[in-house]
Amino acid sequence: MKISKRLGGIDAMVINRYQHIWDCCCDHGQLGMRLLERDAAEQIHFVDKVPVIMESLERRLTHRFGEHNDQWQLYTIDVFTLPIDNYALEQSHLIIIAGVGGELSLQIVQKLLKSYPQHRLDFILCPLRHQYNLRKGLAQLSLTLIDEELLKEQKWYYEIIHVANNNALLGTGESRRLDRPIVATGSLLWENSNALHQAYLGQIIGHYQRSLLRLEIESVLHRQVQTVLSEYYQILNELEE
Ligand SMILES: C[S@@+](CC[C@H](N)C(=O)[O-])C[C@H]1O[C@@H](n2cnc3c(N)ncnc32)[C@H](O)[C@@H]1O
Repeated sequence: MKISKRLGGIDAMVINRYQHIWDCCCDHGQLGMRLLERDAAEQIHFVDKVPVIMESLERRLTHRFGEHNDQWQLYTIDVFTLPIDNYALEQSHLIIIAGVGGELSLQIVQKLLKSYPQHRLDFILCPLRHQYNLRKGLAQLSLTLIDEELLKEQKWYYEIIHVANNNALLGTGESRRLDRPIVATGSLLWENSNALHQAYLGQIIGHYQRSLLRLEIESVLHRQVQTVLSEYYQILNELEE
């Protein structure tokens, strides 16, 4: 099945085998289908709140993977109500949230961690905007960074962020391979940087510079944007060294 470069980038970030992968806000379900096709988890769960989308997806899944295939499940629900508690605490979950805004992505992660603090939840996030605020919010939760990647498809840049809830492992004797803090501007994102990273950073800096011009000098928002901008300038200095 041919999928977009963005969805392919998310698929490639799923390296460890999970018991459950949740393709949240799945719409066409292409990502979940790719994961199902390559047997990336014991169960792939497709979640979207729009009934007509899920009816059409159910027909496609039944056609391709069979009606009685217990490796996939559909949920026509709000993603805030994901039924993770249908499964035992020790089962591993990867929750993928792509193609929605960064603020909504953060609210979903906050809600799921609050509802299921002891479940083993990893997240892959690929928001449409507000990556800085998303990461800043993630850093305030009990999450650590597994991986990050930048890619460009047509004229759009996408950040893919893979994080883990390490609190769930407390007392289990298990530890993570990587235990990096989450940095609001991104950290692993800029490793091995090339022209793509430079161009993206230029675009981000240009965006915040234009925002500053629209804000009242000395206002709280102006100071906040200046802080964000200075953090991105720091990245620029490091890339140029
Ligand atoms: C642009 S599509 C993203 C599709 C796919 N994830 C991707 O990245 O290509 C956004 C989907 O999110 C769904 N959605 C938005 N908010 C949701 C929520 N709170 N619960 C479940 N689905 C939601 C919409 O119905 C829509 O189908």
